[in-house]
Amino acid sequence: MKLILENWKRFLKEQSGLGINPEEVECPDVSKKCIQALRDEEFYDPARVSYHMRQAGYTYHGGGAYRKVFNIPDHPDKILKVSFDYLEQAKEMNRKEAEGKYQTSSPLTVKVFDAAKDYMWIISEKVNVIHSWEDLQKFLVEHNDWPFPSSDEYDFHYVFRMLIRPDAPERENDIRNEVIKLLKPTPEGQEKINNKEDETITDSLINKSLFTTIRNFLIQHDLTSEQHIKDIRPENVGYVVRDGIRQFVILDPGFELEKA
Ligand SMILES: Nc1ncnc2c1ncn2[C@@H]1O[C@H](COP(=O)(O)OP(=O)(O)O)[C@@H](O)[C@H]1O
Ligand SMILES: [Mg+2]
Repeated sequence: MKLILENWKRFLKEQSGLGINPEEVECPDVSKKCIQALRDEEFYDPARVSYHMRQAGYTYHGGGAYRKVFNIPDHPDKILKVSFDYLEQAKEMNRKEAEGKYQTSSPLTVKVFDAAKDYMWIISEKVNVIHSWEDLQKFLVEHNDWPFPSSDEYDFHYVFRMLIRPDAPERENDIRNEVIKLLKPTPEGQEKINNKEDETITDSLINKSLFTTIRNFLIQHDLTSEQHIKDIRPENVGYVVRDGIRQFVILDPGFELEKA
C-alpha cells in the first residue's frame, strides 16, 4: 500500500506543471482575483464568478448543489471543480476526492491532478457524464452488465439500486422476484422462467464485477447510508476511456452528504 501511495505521489509530481492556474483569473469588479474573491466571500453569486471564468476561457460544464465544474482552456481532457459552498463541506468533498488513499482505492475513482491548498478547487480527469437512467442502462447493456435491454427506466433504476446496496448478496430472493418481473413480459423471458433460469440469472447479476466493485467501493469509503446509495445516480457517474476500454467511474462519491 505504501508503495502504491509513493508511486501515486510521484505520478502527481510528474503531472504538475500542468500550466493551469485558476487562481490567476481576474475578477475586475471586486479588484481581486476571482477564486480569491470567492474564498473571501466577497460575493455569493455563482453567475458572477462564472461570467469572469468565461472571460478567461473557462466554459461552464455542469454543477451540483455544492460545486461548479468548468472546461479548462486548451485542456479538453480535464475539468476544474470549484467549491461554491461556504460551509466548508464542498472543500472537504474536494479534499477527500483528491486524497491519495482514495485515488488509489478503486478503478471507479476519477483522477485528480492538482488542487488548491485549501481545496477551493481541484483539477480532475474529464468524465463522459451519464445523464439519465436510460443512458446508464444502455451503457450497462453494451458492457454485458445488464441482461434486459428492453426493461423500462424505472424497473432498471429500482433493480440497479438493489444490486449496489452492500446487502445485495443477502437479498437474493427479493432480487430474484424483480428478475422474474423483468423476464415475464417477453416470450423468451417467460421461457427462461419455465426453464428455471431466473435463479442463475439472479446469481450472475449479483456477482457481476461492476456491481461487486461498486459495493466494495461504497463499503470501503463508508458510503453505505440510504442517502449515499441514492446518490450513485446519473449526473454523478460516467465513464472514462482507459487503455482503449470504457471504464465506469463515480465522479461524485457523495462524501460529506451525511452532514447536509
Ligand atoms: N470529472 C468530471 N468530468 C466531467 N464532468 C464532471 C466531473 N465532475 C463533475 N462533473 C459535472 O459537474 C456536476 C457537478 O459535479 P459534482 O461533483 O457532482 O458536484 P456536487 O457535489 O455539487 O454534486 C456533475 O453532476 C457533472 O455533470
Ligand atoms: Mg453531484
